[in-house]
Amino acid sequence: MIKNQRHYQVTEQRGQQAIHHNFNDKECQEYLKDHLPLYKQTLINTAEADFQVLVNKKQLMTILKKAPSKKLVSLDHNRQKQYLLEDGKVAPFLVHLGIMNSMGKVHPQKMDKFRQINRFLEMVDDVSGDLDPKKGIHIVDFGCGKAYLTFALYHYFKVLKGFQIKITGLDLKADVIRQCQKLSSDLGYADELQFILGDIKDYATDDPVDMMVSLHACDMATDAALEKAVRWGAKVILCVPCCQHELFNQVENQDLKPLLKHGILKERFAALVTDAARAQLLEAQGYHTQILEFIDMEHTPKNLLIRAVKKSHKNAQQLLEEYKQFKSTLHINPAFERLMNPQSTS
Ligand SMILES: C[S@@+](CC[C@H](N)C(=O)[O-])C[C@H]1O[C@@H](n2cnc3c(N)ncnc32)[C@H](O)[C@@H]1O
Repeated sequence: MIKNQRHYQVTEQRGQQAIHHNFNDKECQEYLKDHLPLYKQTLINTAEADFQVLVNKKQLMTILKKAPSKKLVSLDHNRQKQYLLEDGKVAPFLVHLGIMNSMGKVHPQKMDKFRQINRFLEMVDDVSGDLDPKKGIHIVDFGCGKAYLTFALYHYFKVLKGFQIKITGLDLKADVIRQCQKLSSDLGYADELQFILGDIKDYATDDPVDMMVSLHACDMATDAALEKAVRWGAKVILCVPCCQHELFNQVENQDLKPLLKHGILKERFAALVTDAARAQLLEAQGYHTQILEFIDMEHTPKNLLIRAVKKSHKNAQQLLEEYKQFKSTLHINPAFERLMNPQSTS
């Protein structure tokens, strides 16, 4: 059923590719009329009868009618995607954030947001196996802002997965930190989910950090977050950089003049170069690093997520050589490296 109208789904398998069409009654009739003559034999199961359609070489059609062999399937079975958060199931933080009502029903105008949070949690879910649930894990969320994704992390690890957990959200804005702390207390999470006022670069903790999250921390705040995470040896890093301005004034290469002479292209290119350099340095530090697309309407619609999981130092030397080559080709000196290695000047 689509918008209360019955449709038929047609799947055409062409080699490896499956092509889906949703047809209303009339479109479906047309489709069958065009396609039935292409097959020598077609079997049609309906609730009333089975029809065997035979087409001979002269394109003459014979239709044999038999007793039905299949039962009517429910039309309510429109397959719902299995999300980590379910529409219809209360997640207290989503109720407080106004995304679902107190019965767990997602407000229609908040469906996009609900899907985005789910998508984020899927990306977390993919790497949660790298964290030890028995040990008790500490997550730091740098630049947490209003923290709906920080609460989502709490919900995922604590409520859905039953991890022993401590989460620290940090931000520069006092009012935002106050509101988040209040929500955490209201939800009864305050022992395990705390919010602290401060600057990423000054944050220090004695608790080992297993996972560092920094979502949309502007420009070099992301580098400060990455540097902390690598020094702590955090097992998992999830980082959505934004406003990567730093390399715009550095990147240079005569062969790339057709690209770099256009401000807007140079800006995009410099942002990609920044993230490529970050990812390469993470790899050289033993992180298995992926770049994924991250969609969040609250900020710029499409961003990249750097997802890194600490594995081993395989090929560190080669990765560093590639990094150096990349730097010298583009005449850049990225902040992440400078923070990791304050002695280096180039
Ligand atoms: C665009 S918001 C993103 C909020 C949240 N992480 C999200 O993705 O919805 C960026 C946040 O990072 C904070 N921020 C930026 N630089 C920071 C720094 N150096 N230390 C701590 N917080 C910082 C800002 O105050 C702001 O709340």
